[in-house]
Amino acid sequence: MPKDTLTITDNRTGKTYEVAIEHGAIRAVELRQIKTSPEEFGLMSYDPGYLNTASCKSTITFIDGDRGILHYRGYPIEQLAEKSTYLETAYLVLYGELPTRSQLEEWTYQITHHTILNENTKKLMDGFRYDAHPMGMFISTIAALSTFYPESKDIFDEQVRRKQIYRLIAKVPTIAAFSYRHNTGMPYAYPDNDLSYTGNFLNMLFKRTELKYKPHPVLERALDVLFILHADHEQNCSTSTMRLVGSAHTDPYCSLAAAAAALYGPLHGGANEAVLRMLAEIGSKDNVPAYIKRVKSGEVRLMGFGHRVYKNYDPRARIIKQTADAVFEVTGRNPLLDIALELERIALEDDYFVSRKLYPNVDFYSGLIYQAMGFPVEMFPVLFAIPRTSGWLAQWQEMLLDKEQKIGRPRQLYLGAGRRDYVPIEQR
Ligand code: CMC
Repeated sequence: MPKDTLTITDNRTGKTYEVAIEHGAIRAVELRQIKTSPEEFGLMSYDPGYLNTASCKSTITFIDGDRGILHYRGYPIEQLAEKSTYLETAYLVLYGELPTRSQLEEWTYQITHHTILNENTKKLMDGFRYDAHPMGMFISTIAALSTFYPESKDIFDEQVRRKQIYRLIAKVPTIAAFSYRHNTGMPYAYPDNDLSYTGNFLNMLFKRTELKYKPHPVLERALDVLFILHADHEQNCSTSTMRLVGSAHTDPYCSLAAAAAALYGPLHGGANEAVLRMLAEIGSKDNVPAYIKRVKSGEVRLMGFGHRVYKNYDPRARIIKQTADAVFEVTGRNPLLDIALELERIALEDDYFVSRKLYPNVDFYSGLIYQAMGFPVEMFPVLFAIPRTSGWLAQWQEMLLDKEQKIGRPRQLYLGAGRRDYVPIEQR
């Protein structure tokens, strides 16, 4: 009869230990009983980059990287992208179930009626230099909201948490749009409550002198689909940051600012910008084989290809490719698309990419769409942060309510100098 345990023999002592296997994992603290003497600290696991460490139990997002599967709360991403809206999906991600009609109405009402920023927040944003990067403004302004809503520190009060969730999901598009307008020297455009979540975002970004901004329905829907695809992606760098900072019981605004700071990094939220730069560098379809050669020799990486978890086609990339077709019918074809398609065609046939299981990821086509819609590359990480806000908040709330969670505090393997005496400066 097979047992759900693991037997470990310590060859230093010859002792054998049996540890429980639960959900395909052992508890790392079980290793601490493995020692060569009672004074010893006990064995630890060493895992830089957390390649094989589960930091939590979660019921939010499921990824099967080998089969290219992504579910939110059990629902396949393809079905949500086709049938849902971003706000409905955000509710699902946060509360675990699709909302009833009345729940959705209440949720939409609350989000729509928390979009306005306090005028002092606006003044704060005004204080940034004229060419401030919109992501720097976004991160700082989110952190500053903590000072406007001091009650948000009461993180174990369900009503307080709910209010901050409304505020954050409602205000991130406003902050993002104001950052963009500041950066482009345009006056801020205030929220329009008659419009949808993404329709209003487009209004705050692109409204000029017209009395009423009318978003193009195809672009509004395309952005909504992109937002659905980016709502959550389990324990990536920024989400783990949200959980880690939140585990110190920091308020949700400062925790979310930290998560957004992690997203800002080019290895995380900035890859689609790198894809655009790469496509521009390649310049034409004819230069693709030569570029592939450089990739295979290890000189450069094919940006937008490969993923730590997906060892198959990223399911989000497949949907984005379809969305791109719809967007380009409205905006005109992005000339870089032909280069991207040719790169993908050649890479998917080439043994270098096939044997390493390198497929297009979410970033391969998203930058092309954003560029065609008129977004400058500096806005790309901000466009990622808006929908990921719902995922960050869902993961933060799950962490707070999980009785097993404690303040995050990894261990280290100390390899530095042993004890030594202080040397006065003249003797060094
Ligand atoms: N182009 C060429 N070779 C690659 C690439 C690539 N894009 N990605 C991985 N490889 C090769 C790599 O050289 C290695 O080959 P070898 O075994 O011969 O040394 C092998 O594939 C495994 O690579 P790895 O670096 O061990 O894989 P990783 O899981 O640590 O890296 C990654 C994942 C996403 C950082 C990497 O694939 C990459 O740098 N991709 C390009 C950047 C990119 O598109 N990032 C967006 C990620 S999705 C957005 C998000 O979720 O934040």
